[in-house]
Amino acid sequence: MKDVHVGVIGLGNVGSGTLAILNRNSAQIAQKLGFGLKVTAVCSRSVAGLDLADVPGDAMRTADWRDVVANPNVDIVAELVGGRGAAREMIDAAIANGKSVVTANKELMALEGADIWDRAIVSGVNLAMEASVAGGIPIHAVLREGISGDRIAAIAGILNGTSNYILTEMERRGDSFEDVLKEAQALGYAEADPAADVDGYDARSKLAILAALAFGERIVPDDIFVEGIRRITAQDFDYAHQLGHTIRLVCSAQRTEKGLILSVRPALIPESTILAGVKGAYNAIWVKGEFGADTFYYGRGAGPHPTGVAVVSDLMRVAREIRSGSPERVSPFAHERLGEYQPVSVLLQKRPYYLRFRVDDRPGIIAELAGILASKQIGLEAVLQLPCDTKNDLPFVITVESSPESAVREAVEQMSKLDFLREPPLALPMEPPL
Ligand code: HSE
Repeated sequence: MKDVHVGVIGLGNVGSGTLAILNRNSAQIAQKLGFGLKVTAVCSRSVAGLDLADVPGDAMRTADWRDVVANPNVDIVAELVGGRGAAREMIDAAIANGKSVVTANKELMALEGADIWDRAIVSGVNLAMEASVAGGIPIHAVLREGISGDRIAAIAGILNGTSNYILTEMERRGDSFEDVLKEAQALGYAEADPAADVDGYDARSKLAILAALAFGERIVPDDIFVEGIRRITAQDFDYAHQLGHTIRLVCSAQRTEKGLILSVRPALIPESTILAGVKGAYNAIWVKGEFGADTFYYGRGAGPHPTGVAVVSDLMRVAREIRSGSPERVSPFAHERLGEYQPVSVLLQKRPYYLRFRVDDRPGIIAELAGILASKQIGLEAVLQLPCDTKNDLPFVITVESSPESAVREAVEQMSKLDFLREPPLALPMEPPL
């Protein structure tokens, strides 16, 4: 059978990883498909200065993406540029020109994936986006194929490698957030501007995509409550350990009677749970199905080769369809339209909470805090204070029984006005074991 032709736009980390795999694995890919996947065009703004050892000599090299999407010798466009500006134009133009698209673009797909998919269906082309979430973990294939016969009840994941690296290093070494972040930046693990990773926005885009695929609803990042990891201290890990827990940036989507509750936030998770074992820059996704119960997926969330595998596997999937005839397509976004899983506010969530205080010590502090909790019908579970040699800026923790987030937030707001507090209390939900 004739080769399928690929145009790659964007030759950064993911693009170069993709080209390396396509080149070094070409014979095996052709055996698996029954035909070859051939790169016929590559595009990068800095194409002239790049070492393109993995690109076939006869492939077009261009700095203008329009040359790729208009090229009659390209069947599939791989958009590996990222962001929402030019990438959107590239994908739109490729679809309008009747070319299928493979993308690694989480930001764009989280915000506009449903509309882009609708356009692809009308044009009769395919769209694949495995690399947009958790690079090396084939979670799209799992949700769209592997367990698509089930009905998903909940997803919980660790979807940002940078923040997981920072948290697990703080835990391992007892160092501060600031120190570990600086070191991660020096080593190139964290960006100079770390906001997207440590404030939870990168993970939120990924959760929006996964939740849309899992629950078949239109879910956008704004539907998801987000809180980052900047306020976590090494002492929080000491207290969490005392409670048999650890702390991770947890991406969660749960079906409840009231609707779908979605959040990305630091949370206490039991040390015995499988998610607690996810360390360093690794990602993991736990999925609970109504029929199939628990499944768990683990792997590298980023990096040229793990993400490149996702792109190449998508290219193979799309190429197979091009050669074998296109089936009826159904959008992975908003395919249910049943209205069962409408996103609702995280304020409706009920959990036990960990409340950590930093106070200037004086008599009566616990009594005042307990009074506020009682006024909100929040039951106190435990009070913990690890040995500390100062009376100023003294940390201690109160855990409370399962309570609505709305009541906990009201209590925290009221507590924040108390003059003995150094900073507003830190409230973290305590997630149940898997
Ligand atoms: N910055 C992301 C992370 C990788 O730290 O997981 C790309 O999505």
